[in-house]
Formats: sequence, structure tokens, C-alpha cells
Amino acid sequence: MAQKGALMKVGVVGLGYVGLVTAIVLANAGNTVIGVDIDNEKIANLKNRIVNIYEPGLEGAFNQAYDKINFSIDYASLKDTNLIYIIVSTPTKEGKILLDYVFDAIGSIKNSNDTATIVIKSTVVPGTARRVHERTGLEVVSNPEFIKEGNAIYDTIHPDRIIIGASNKKSLDLVENLWSFTKAPIVRTTNENAELIKYASNSFLATKISFINEIANLCEKIPNADIEVVAKGMGLDKRIGPYFLKAGIGYGGSCFLKDTRAFTNFARGLEEKLNIVEAAMKVNNDRINRIINLVKVEVDDKNIVVGVLGIAFKNNTNDMRESQALKLIKRMQEENFRVKAYDPVIKEVKGIEMVHSKEECIKTSNILIIATEWEEFKDIKTKKLIIDARRMLDMSKDNIIAIGVSGYNKKEEIL
Ligand code: UDX
Repeated sequence: MAQKGALMKVGVVGLGYVGLVTAIVLANAGNTVIGVDIDNEKIANLKNRIVNIYEPGLEGAFNQAYDKINFSIDYASLKDTNLIYIIVSTPTKEGKILLDYVFDAIGSIKNSNDTATIVIKSTVVPGTARRVHERTGLEVVSNPEFIKEGNAIYDTIHPDRIIIGASNKKSLDLVENLWSFTKAPIVRTTNENAELIKYASNSFLATKISFINEIANLCEKIPNADIEVVAKGMGLDKRIGPYFLKAGIGYGGSCFLKDTRAFTNFARGLEEKLNIVEAAMKVNNDRINRIINLVKVEVDDKNIVVGVLGIAFKNNTNDMRESQALKLIKRMQEENFRVKAYDPVIKEVKGIEMVHSKEECIKTSNILIIATEWEEFKDIKTKKLIIDARRMLDMSKDNIIAIGVSGYNKKEEIL
């Protein structure tokens, strides 16, 4: 095995959210990093120290790493690297994963470097790494990522586990050595297992959220029930655990929707139906209707202004991809409600009337919906009706309709 912790010259192709964070963390661990992206403007910005991602801790980590990363749009800059990460996007098209960016990137790498080991960090369906090897002859390792936006730097330095899939010991050793500074448990396995672990993990987390959201629906029908208490009681069971049991508006973001779509479609291609994951997707889809119905029950006048607090798909990020808040706003607009929105970091969105502060949003709206769990929404003071779709507020206040609680604010006093 390569000497533990020995430093390397590593290529990172694709400098989106995960790619940039990976490049920064590997550089700060002492490696030399070549970061390649086909987006001219992005590379020019990075060279000028401009990062267009809101992520706590990213700016400081980027400045620290800056001298150890060579940013380029030219694949030829990867010619002296012996390990090259592929972290390009893998969107879905008509529910099916699109692998064109992965294959294009690897084709371009091969023109300048045909001896490097390729490491696929992009989320790809099982069998992809082997296909890449068969097509190109290059060694291919699967090393999926599990980082959460808003906590990306920390998660990359302190991961719960590192999954490495490859068909030979040398490649497994190389990638294990690269991440040995994290001290995380390492699973060495086949490419297919590594690829599956990523999809199964994200599908399981999505299912956990949909499960608790469905129990929340039930709570709304049962006198004196409250999903927060039910989730707390469940989460204390070590086999269940407290995480991803927060009921609310449903999951959004760049991964869960895309990955569950791609995974269920992939399984159907093998004539296997992932019934549980498909049900989780359906439950998530229905969340928006449920919230709109709550508004309709409370107000029958479409001339009112609905103030939506939060647009990002979750707190601590400016990412709006597959945001449930955004979907809620669009649906309300389609239903001819007038919507005003506020987000602490997203200031402009095409087609949405934005206001500059939560105070302004409260003042100029008739009813409010908390759609993203930003910390600053916790201490909202108003007599107006609030639909708390993120379960953030103190339930003893009498102007709240909270997701997952019967009789809304009528909280039972526990003796
Ligand atoms: C996720 C995975 O956690 C990560 O491992 C993977 O690599 C990428 O996808 P991320 O998209 O950053 O990360 O978001 P995450 O924190 O997992 O939240 C996803 C969505 O679920 C958000 O919209 C969040 O608000 C929602 N959520 C999360 C809930 O509604 N309830 C919960 O209990 C947890």
C-alpha cells in the first residue's frame, strides 16, 4: 500500500458544489490539485477568488487552499496527475439518468492522460464504472459522496464513512491513502456495491422523511396528537435514530429527487420495482397540495397576499434546485394567489415578487408560510396567521397552523 498520508497530485473535473468542496479539502490536506471545468466564466471567477456558492466556512477554506489549486478549462493540465476525480452532474432526463457528462469528461481526459486512475464521485447507476473501464481501458474507482449542503466542508473532512469500490488492490489503496487524513471508517468493495450504497442511502433517507410526513398527516386527524412528540419518541430508539424524522414541507434539493427517480427507473429496467421508494416519492409530491389546502381552509379570498418565508431548498444554502418552497410559490401563483417572498440569502428570483426583510414580508402579507427552516424565522412576532410548514415555532402561540398537529395550536398541557 502507498505510504499512509503520502501527498498526491490530484485532478478534479467538475467544479460545482461537490467538486469545488472536494478540491478545497484535498488541497488543504496538503495535496496539489488541478481543478478543471468547461465553464469559462466559472474558472475565471475562481482564479479571481470569486465563489458563487453560499456555504458556511467555504470562503475561508477556499482562501487557504487557493495557492494549492490550479484552475483550468484545459484537460491537458491533467497530464501529470495519476488520480482524477469525476464530479460532473448526472441529471435525469425523462426519469432516466443522463451519463453524457461523465462519458464526455472521461473521453477528454483520455486524450491528454491515458494512464491516470479515474475516480467517479458523481452519482451514477450501478455498472457505470465498469462500462467506463470497458470503453476506455482506464482503471476506474467508485468513491461516492455523502455531503450535505450547508455542512459541506465539515462533512468532507469528517465523513461518517468512506466508500471505495474498485476491482484491484492498487486502486483501492490509492484512494484509501488519499482520504486517510479523515480517520473515517473505510469500506473497500466492488464498484457496483459502492454505486449501490450511494443510491440506497439517499433513497432510505428520502423514505424516512416521507414516512414521518405521512405520520404527520395522520396526526392532523387525531385529537391531541403532535408529530414532533411522536418523532422524538421514535427517535430515542437507537434502531431508528433521531435524524431525518423532521416532518414538514417535504424534501427538495439537487440529490434526493434526482436520485430516487434515477434509482427507481434503473430498477424497473431490471424488472424490479422499488415499491417503497416509489411510495416515498409520491408522498413527497403530495406535500405541496397539502399546504395549499391548509391555506384554502383558512382563507377563501384569493385577493389576499401570501407571504412565503424562505426559498432555498433548506437553510444555510442559496441553492434553489428542486426547492419545495419554490414549487409551493409557483403552484400558489398558478392558483392566482398573490405571493410575496423573502429569503435571507436569495434576493432575486425571476417571476417572484421578493421583499427585503422578514419584517417587510410580515407587514405586507395577510397570511404567512414558513417554507425554509432559516434560524431567523424562529423568533417571528406577528398576530397574523402563520402556516408553520417547517415546525419551527413555539406551538403555544395562538396564531399558528403547524404541520402534523391536530387542532393546530391547541397544545395539551402535560402534567
Ligand atoms: C443529501 C444527502 O443528505 C447527502 O448525503 C447526499 O450526498 C446529497 O443529498 P442535501 O441535498 O444537501 O444532502 O440535503 P439534506 O440535508 O439531506 O436535506 C434534503 C432535504 O430534506 C431538504 O429539503 C431538507 O429540508 C429535507 N429534510 C431533511 C426534511 O424535510 N426532514 C428531515 O428530517 C431532514
